[in-house]
Amino acid sequence: MSDKIAYARHGDIAVLRIENPPVNALSQAVRQGLWDAMDRAESDEGVRAVVIVGEGRAFIAGADITEFGKPPMEPHLPVLCNRIEASPLLVVASMHGVSLGGGLEVALSTHYRIAQPTARVGLPEVNLGLIPGAGATQRLPRLTGAQKAVEMITSGAPIKAGAALDLGILDRVTEGEPEAVGLAYAKELLEQDAAPRPVSQLPAADPLDWDATYDAVLAKGRGQISPAVAVRAVQAASELPFAQGLEKERELFMELMQTDQRQGMIHAFFSERAVSNLPELKGVASRDIKAVGVIGGGTMGAGIATAALLAGMEVVLIEMKEEAALAAHERISGNLAGALKRGKISQEKFDALTQKALTVSTNYDSLGDVDLVVEAVFEDMDVKKQVFAKLDAVCKPGCVLASNTSYLDVDEIAASTSRPADVIGLHFFSPAHIMKLLEVVVADKTAPDVVATGFALGKALGKISVRAGVCDGFIGNRILATYRTAADHMVLDGASPYQIDKALVDFGFAMGPFAVADLAGLDIGWMTRKRKAPHRHPDERVPTYIDKLCEEGHFGQKTGEGYYIYAAGKRAGVPNPKIAELIAEEQAELGITPRPFSDEDIVRRYMCAMVNEAAKVVGEGIARRPLDVDMTLLFGYGFPRYWGGPMKWADIQGLDAVLADIESYAQDDAWFWQPAPLLKTLVAEGRTFDDLNKDAGK
Ligand code: 3HC
Ligand code: NAI
Repeated sequence: MSDKIAYARHGDIAVLRIENPPVNALSQAVRQGLWDAMDRAESDEGVRAVVIVGEGRAFIAGADITEFGKPPMEPHLPVLCNRIEASPLLVVASMHGVSLGGGLEVALSTHYRIAQPTARVGLPEVNLGLIPGAGATQRLPRLTGAQKAVEMITSGAPIKAGAALDLGILDRVTEGEPEAVGLAYAKELLEQDAAPRPVSQLPAADPLDWDATYDAVLAKGRGQISPAVAVRAVQAASELPFAQGLEKERELFMELMQTDQRQGMIHAFFSERAVSNLPELKGVASRDIKAVGVIGGGTMGAGIATAALLAGMEVVLIEMKEEAALAAHERISGNLAGALKRGKISQEKFDALTQKALTVSTNYDSLGDVDLVVEAVFEDMDVKKQVFAKLDAVCKPGCVLASNTSYLDVDEIAASTSRPADVIGLHFFSPAHIMKLLEVVVADKTAPDVVATGFALGKALGKISVRAGVCDGFIGNRILATYRTAADHMVLDGASPYQIDKALVDFGFAMGPFAVADLAGLDIGWMTRKRKAPHRHPDERVPTYIDKLCEEGHFGQKTGEGYYIYAAGKRAGVPNPKIAELIAEEQAELGITPRPFSDEDIVRRYMCAMVNEAAKVVGEGIARRPLDVDMTLLFGYGFPRYWGGPMKWADIQGLDAVLADIESYAQDDAWFWQPAPLLKTLVAEGRTFDDLNKDAGK
């Protein structure tokens, strides 16, 4: 008998308790254990019913994801589910915590389902590039109807017990200890002489307009295929007898298992969890953060303050003048009003946050009690140094002093204080109360417990925190600068910004780089180019056509004109005809004959530029592991999750092929396309970026 399943008799009921911490994933041992325990119950004299419960914090979180990509081991989950369903005993699932994926499929193969009011059920397989593969696409529509089943399976989002009860997924919701509740329910059923009730024998669901549903789901997935494939599996449940439908589900599941998207999404799943798990922080206690100071109440300061308030912290925000302070208060209230509207907070909470937890002031002395300060003033070293000098004077000992700078040298900022060990970069992304990424920028002298505090703050704010070293732009903006440059070069050489945007949206990015530039404001890039101009290498190609637009006061969406022209109040624009003229002028000045680019070539160059810079960022230790880059791009830069990140994308393409492309591009522009030493080393050794993740203990 497997040590993953505890077997106990309670009169004529056998309880099978799954004990596979932390979340009872259905590993081979669990599947075998359940199989054997079902055998035992069926041959155990006098047993009439079985109750399946989970130990710990969940019923079952699904198949064991670590087994994916390895040779499948018997008993296979769909076969186990059929075996449970076919039992002559009455089988009851008593569910608590989450029942996800294969976990819900096990429950659907039992005859009756009871759950705690706090339980949640769902089929998140699409988020791993898969579909449910143990019968849910066939059983669920028989309980809920096809429409609801399609919604649940294609969204991947879990639902609460109450909603599952309404949909017929659960038979009963009862509060109590799961085993006791399950036993009472089983007893009641036995007393009523209830018979086993296999879902597979229920009538098939009425059909939908399958092609229209498939097209709609495909379009919504922005290139992700698994949700659309799920529609075809549910269609099979409507059109085929159960056993054949199950075969179809298996076939589609196995096909998806072989895809790059499945690899990418599972890489994302594990990396998302590994990213904040730094060996250097093991055993390092973080400092207590109850009150946070924010300096500057502009776009970023207001967003950071909002995030801290929503996480239950007190916030003291400092602005330069009364007027700006009032504007900051309004900005934060506006952000919180959004949370109120979305049902994230109550009116009472809104009032408490805006009136009690938030203090807005022009006096730095108000910061005396805060535990951590995030500076978000103008991106100017002199201004930042003045602010840090004031913080040094007023903040209590042990207070963490953080800068939200996008590019500036955190070592230099730290050196301007008397306590560099307390100084760190905390680089939020706009809007800071919504975007998930936080770069924790560790300067030379930052103390380990200050780093731990940065990560603890990120966790409290619900962020994905990534450790970054100091360099111009840290991990994300440094890599962005390079792939943006590759896009600019393609424009100079003949691709239009609109073709580039479209090719990259088709690849899976939320937006193309030129639409993003319009959204962020063209003045940012313009200022950066000016800042960097004195340090340029003579061989560096820097397009200037867009500067001419900026000189005329056009900064993208906020002024109504950029690469695109925006009608008032509209977020999507139409191509700006001036751009083509300005590009043509610059090409003529430089003597460039424009040439056509295929969409494939555009994506390849863009991605190679990204990967090459990322490999330099890892090679220099700015990012500790390739997965840190992947998570930065995924959570801060709209990189399609189903590729797992640029490093995973590169691994999938083959690093030798990526390097060969970079070397071929270098024939035309050797300065820009200098291959990253790390990439060359990995290719020479026949290793991948993921090997480096594994070396680091992923
Ligand atoms: N398989 C293997 N390991 C899993 C796992 C799974 N299904 N689910 C979670 N884990 C691991 C995590 O990697 C993590 O490991 P770590 O501590 O070493 O980092 C640990 O369990 C705890 O997970 P979390 O840190 O995520 O804990 P939370 O409490 O925040 O969340 C959870 C728990 C909601 C269950 C979340 O882990 C989750 O969403 N898991 C994935 C669920 C899922 O996708 N299930 C479907 C699997 S595919 C399937 O079932 C196919 C079937 O149809 C055939
Ligand atoms: P912003 O211009 O919207 O806001 C800056 C605010 O700081 C202004 O309200 C100004 O009055 C205030 N301020 C300036 N000096 C001050 C001082 N000495 N004391 C108190 N308040 C002062 O700028 P934004 O966009 O919020 O950026 C702030 C910082 O965040 C910059 O370092 C920027 O690089 C960084 N950042 C910006 C991102 C963005 O998308 N806008 C993203 C990530 C970081």
